[in-house]
Amino acid sequence: MIQLEHITKTYPVGDGLTVLNDACLTVDDGEYVGILGPSGSGKSTMLHIMGLLDRPTSGRLIFNNREVNALDDRELSMLRGRLVGFVFQSFHLVPQLSVSENVELPLFYQGVPRSQRRERARKALAQVGMSSRMRHVPSQLSGGERQRTAIARALVTEPALVLADEPTGNLDSRTGGDIVELLNALHAEGRTIVMITHDREIAATLPRVVQIRDGKLEEG
Ligand SMILES: Nc1ncnc2c1ncn2[C@@H]1O[C@H](COP(=O)(O)OP(=O)(O)OP(=O)(O)O)[C@@H](O)[C@H]1O
Ligand SMILES: [Mg+2]
Repeated sequence: MIQLEHITKTYPVGDGLTVLNDACLTVDDGEYVGILGPSGSGKSTMLHIMGLLDRPTSGRLIFNNREVNALDDRELSMLRGRLVGFVFQSFHLVPQLSVSENVELPLFYQGVPRSQRRERARKALAQVGMSSRMRHVPSQLSGGERQRTAIARALVTEPALVLADEPTGNLDSRTGGDIVELLNALHAEGRTIVMITHDREIAATLPRVVQIRDGKLEEG
C-alpha cells in the first residue's frame, strides 16, 4: 500500500527543522499499524506524507504501487480522494456546515449525487453513534462528538487506507474503546489502517507498532 524510502522532512524554520531523517517504512495492503512517539517527534508529519497531504523534502514515496513524487498536486489530491480517509488530530471540521454536511463533503468532491450523499453520510454517522446529532454544527458538539464526526467523514468514501491521528485522544476510555472497535472492524473488512496513538494500552492490542525516534522509524 505504502512505501516510505529514506524520507526526510525539513521545515523551513530558523536554520531548518529536520523532523524526519531517513525514515523507511513499508505498510502492506490490509495491515493495521500503530505509530508511537513523543509529542513533536514527527508522527503527524509522517501521516500527512503517507496520506499525500504533504511532500517529503527528500526520499521516495510509493503509494498503491505508484511512485508519487513526480505527480502534481491535482493528481495527488485525486489519488487521495479515491483511496485515503483521514482523521485529523484537530478534526478540521467546517464550522458553518452541519455534521451531516461535513460528512458528505468528500462525496461532494467526488461528484456523488445529493440523495446518495445524504444516505451514505447517515450510514457513516450511525456507525459512530452520531445519528442524533446530524443537524448540529461543530461548535454545538462535545470534543468526542467532533472526533466521531471526523471519523465518519473519513469512512464515508469507503477508503482502502484509513489514516487516523490520535483518534481516541479526546475521548473517555469507553468511547475511545468504541472507536478502536470501529477501526478493528474496518481492518477486518480488509482496509489498511495506520493509527497514531499515545495510548500504550491501545498500542499493545495492535498487530504491529512502529516508533518514531530521532526522525527514524523503528519496529516494536
Ligand atoms: N508546518 C510546520 N512548520 C514548521 N514546523 C512544523 C510544522 N509542522 C510541524 N512542525 C514542527 O515539527 C515537529 C513535529 O511535528 P508533528 O506535528 O509531526 O509532531 P507529532 O509527533 O505529531 O506531535 P504530537 O504528538 O504533539 O501531535 C514539531 O516540533 C513541530 O513544531
Ligand atoms: Mg501530531
